[in-house]
Amino acid sequence: MSLWATKSLEVIRAESEGGAHTLRRTLGAGHLVALGIGAIIGAGLFSLTGIAAAENAGPAVVLSFLVAAFGCAFAGLCYSEFSTMIPIAGSAYTYAYATMGELLAWIIGWDLVLEYAVGASTVSISWSAYVISLLHDFGIHLPYELVASPWQPVQLPDGTTAYGIINLPAVFIVCVISLLLMVGIKESARTNAIIVVIKVAVVIVFIGAGVWYIKADNYVPFIPPNTGTFGEFGISGIMRAAGVIFFAYIGFDAVSTAAQEARNPQRDMPIGIIGSLIICTVLYVAFSAVMTGLVKYTDLKVAAPVALAIDQTPFQWLKTAVKLAIIAGFTSVILVMLLGQSRVFFSMSRDGLLPGVFSDIHPKFRTPWRSNLLFMLFVSLFSAFAPISMVGHMTSIGTLLAFVIVCTGIMIMRRTQPQLHRPFRTPWVPFVPVAGIVVCFAMMASLGLDNWLRLIVWLVIGLTIYFTYSRKHSHLAKSAGVKR
Ligand code: ALA
Repeated sequence: MSLWATKSLEVIRAESEGGAHTLRRTLGAGHLVALGIGAIIGAGLFSLTGIAAAENAGPAVVLSFLVAAFGCAFAGLCYSEFSTMIPIAGSAYTYAYATMGELLAWIIGWDLVLEYAVGASTVSISWSAYVISLLHDFGIHLPYELVASPWQPVQLPDGTTAYGIINLPAVFIVCVISLLLMVGIKESARTNAIIVVIKVAVVIVFIGAGVWYIKADNYVPFIPPNTGTFGEFGISGIMRAAGVIFFAYIGFDAVSTAAQEARNPQRDMPIGIIGSLIICTVLYVAFSAVMTGLVKYTDLKVAAPVALAIDQTPFQWLKTAVKLAIIAGFTSVILVMLLGQSRVFFSMSRDGLLPGVFSDIHPKFRTPWRSNLLFMLFVSLFSAFAPISMVGHMTSIGTLLAFVIVCTGIMIMRRTQPQLHRPFRTPWVPFVPVAGIVVCFAMMASLGLDNWLRLIVWLVIGLTIYFTYSRKHSHLAKSAGVKR
């Protein structure tokens, strides 16, 4: 059997609809939009915006948000076609297995570890920064050695800079959420709705309160001239910042994983995906415009830039409320990501591509607890020792690759399976998928050689596992009676 053998849609449907875990179809369009926003707004907006403005784009980070939004919108339209064509609890991995074959499915599943697990680690580091900042406000100062990684510079009270040893708060939140997942706590639609309201409220209050205190001087120059190095301001800086803050949009694909719980997936999935993207884009553009209007972009390279921006307004009381809300919001993003990670590895393990440990279900809690435990260790390592920009960029480049593959998949499917029923059709094919590929690839390119090398090393490790283990244990190959 070839590497390009696909898993039939009938088999995928039967697997997902049979058994004791059939999910009830209870979610409407509004729920799906809320689910998307719950997974989307997080560290990207509240932490990386400042870093991207300070290091890459200046006030033009606003334009970077638009570039990234276009890439996501094109990819989102492709996701929508897949999610209505295969309306089951899927992910890009499931779509790829049904359409592009086992090897690409493996690559995308392996790549999604960067989106979900490394992404969760990024958000946990940002969570830690906001918790430390909040504790400072209450006069509690944790020793800097224990709250920052060895690569994260910490400003000491005497003005000198030191480096941490381990980021314990980040490890703490990863462990707590992993343990919750092990005992089977999922975020309910109601909890999610509350957190979404809080998050959106914070963004709107920040915009509404801050807009009156913008100093026009802070926008000059709007596009700071390039320093001579690619990605440091100028046009290349806008592109690089787009690659960095692309992180802020990650999560809308979480909507597609709820397809099986949607009342009317054909109509509501595209609304959920595109609707949450549009709302977030509007909020992000306004938010970043206000932030760079309040604080000179050169000063924004701090772990909790929102607090710095609020300092420019008379509303000091807002700081504590905003930090608390941000911390709650980050917690739900980490939960969605770790849950998504265990779902993808669960599917891969059930397909035989990964060892059974990733789909072993706890007899009492009915959760893939061993998988949660292993990812708790893996994610904690990154949270403890990695700098936020490194893990953030790895998440972005990995997710962008997944988007490129999904856009490619839509074009392949239109050729290879034109007869399939498509309740939602991506408009203007091939323009939309090609544009998605071009914009996402441009953002990947802008992330620079270091991140490409990390991506390549990650994929080489993945391919080694595929060719030494997964290929031989694949249930698809076994059911076809093929010996590998
Ligand atoms: N988009 C999510 C965030 O910014 C991952 O935290």
